[in-house]
Amino acid sequence: MSAPEGEIVQFDNVGLRYGTEREILSNVSFTLFSSRFYFLTGASGAGKTSLLRLLYLAQRPSRGAIRMFGTDVITLPREKLPAYRRRMGVVFQDFRLVGHLSAFDNVALPLRVSGVREADLRGPVEDMLEWVGLAQRADARPATLSGGEQQRVAIARAVIGRPDILVADEPTGNVDPEMALKLLRLFEALNRLGTTVVVATHDVQLLRKVPDSLIMRLDKGTLADPTGALRYPPRRDGVRM
Ligand SMILES: Nc1ncnc2c1ncn2[C@@H]1O[C@H](COP(=O)(O)OP(=O)(O)OP(=O)(O)O)[C@@H](O)[C@H]1O
Ligand SMILES: [Mg+2]
Repeated sequence: MSAPEGEIVQFDNVGLRYGTEREILSNVSFTLFSSRFYFLTGASGAGKTSLLRLLYLAQRPSRGAIRMFGTDVITLPREKLPAYRRRMGVVFQDFRLVGHLSAFDNVALPLRVSGVREADLRGPVEDMLEWVGLAQRADARPATLSGGEQQRVAIARAVIGRPDILVADEPTGNVDPEMALKLLRLFEALNRLGTTVVVATHDVQLLRKVPDSLIMRLDKGTLADPTGALRYPPRRDGVRM
């Protein structure tokens, strides 16, 4: 897996239609650089979730090219996709927690899948639950948690494995402004460790809180200014690439 230095994802003239309907996304082209912090914004229905689904490889585009870590992921055999997905943490707009598992076990899941020993995962999972304010709810099943609490478990699960890319769909949509800021700081901390972060939100207040972030704006399925902000080179301030 190799790519031009710092470039980890390239979309080239990507189009997406569901079934035979009109294109939901049209001519979407951008490059994501390693270790940068991106916001994806746009009105409800603009196509943010659809673009993220392409990014975390849950959906193939109708046309165009997508490369990830230097590999064409569109023609990649299905059985090769999990290796790419494991390098990503995803916060789904509808959380998708595992219903029969406790908050603790949901957060522990990515570590267990990657073979971390039980003795080694307890501390990190407890710390993460503490950070998102759910230390007291570690044993609770998702159905007994509030929407905001479920969202925080989903975030903890997405970041615990320090993924190369974090994809978060409206990750602060169900929490109060104070918690939203705290969660944003968690994403920034992860970003400083080298993770490329992509946060979809229609909360414009949020965008201002991360000064170094790059903003991708979707308007009815097309990216505004795809050649401007999105073509910025990676940072040269010593951040790991
Ligand atoms: N599975 C699907 N089948 C058909 N149309 C879909 C499907 N998923 C989304 N759409 C349509 O695609 C468009 C973009 O939807 P998408 O969910 O990507 O928007 P969004 O920007 O994430 O909106 P929101 O801010 O409300 O989450 C909408 O018109 C939506 O109705
Ligand atoms: Mg959405």
